[in-house]
Amino acid sequence: MQLIQGKLIADQIKEEIADEVKKLTEQGKKRPHLAAILVGHDGGSETYVAHKVKACEQVGFESTLIRFEENISENELLEKVRELNADKDVDGFIVQLPLPSHISENKVIETIDPSKDVDGFHPINLGRMVIGLPSYVSATPAGILELIRRYNIETAGKHCVVVGRSNIVGKPMSILLGQKTNPGNCTVTMCHSRTKDLASITLQADILIAALGSPEFVTQNMVKEGAVVIDVGTSRVASTETKSGFRLKGDVKFDEVSPKCSYITPVPGGVGPMTIVSLLKNTLLAAKGEVY
Ligand code: GUN
Repeated sequence: MQLIQGKLIADQIKEEIADEVKKLTEQGKKRPHLAAILVGHDGGSETYVAHKVKACEQVGFESTLIRFEENISENELLEKVRELNADKDVDGFIVQLPLPSHISENKVIETIDPSKDVDGFHPINLGRMVIGLPSYVSATPAGILELIRRYNIETAGKHCVVVGRSNIVGKPMSILLGQKTNPGNCTVTMCHSRTKDLASITLQADILIAALGSPEFVTQNMVKEGAVVIDVGTSRVASTETKSGFRLKGDVKFDEVSPKCSYITPVPGGVGPMTIVSLLKNTLLAAKGEVY
């Protein structure tokens, strides 16, 4: 069993990005600038956004964090999105999800200028990705592809089972691994909460991607000997062993599943750090004008 060390790879890529930023500034160009909008005080979102801002600092990007209280109106938020669309200094921006229930996430996403949508959530970016045009690819699937690439994991002809159908992870991941690309060329099965006899399908997976958001859902009886297992889960569960009072749990029961795997990602330190690095990469692309 080989552990896929996402944190290690993410640190390497951050150095590569920092080198590129250095080159840009040496050429007299401005630093890439990422803005993030955070609405409310959800613990998970607070942590993710703090990590994103810190990562910007580490690679020499400028960053702006824009905070709103939970009760901001949809119109006020849309107005801020339009403002960032027009702001020449901001290369890309994100609106951290989830949003409060009185705000339509789709409306907000559709208001973002696709050329600044470094999360790759806008239907134009998703559509372009599906037909293989240059686009911003959603950060988590992009990070997983990068891990597969850097560990030289063969994907062509493999059966990849994706558990989860979110717009952010499951759907784009399924499409990307089925593309005529490397990594890619997989036979993909996408499973979800209404899938019958899930274990009979996951047992066929050469590559199993667990992205359903249910802690320790995938157990050893669901995994084939020698499978590659990618754990996207980041559920916060109460813990008396940490200062914060919680710890992150993946969607995979790591202790019992890992002995069966050829490769597996840990939680934390697997997919999570790669997601942030993919966002940085998209922001760099935006600053260089390499997608639009
Ligand atoms: N919420 C969970 N993951 C993400 C992400 O990648 N981007 C944004 N904007 N919100 C999220």
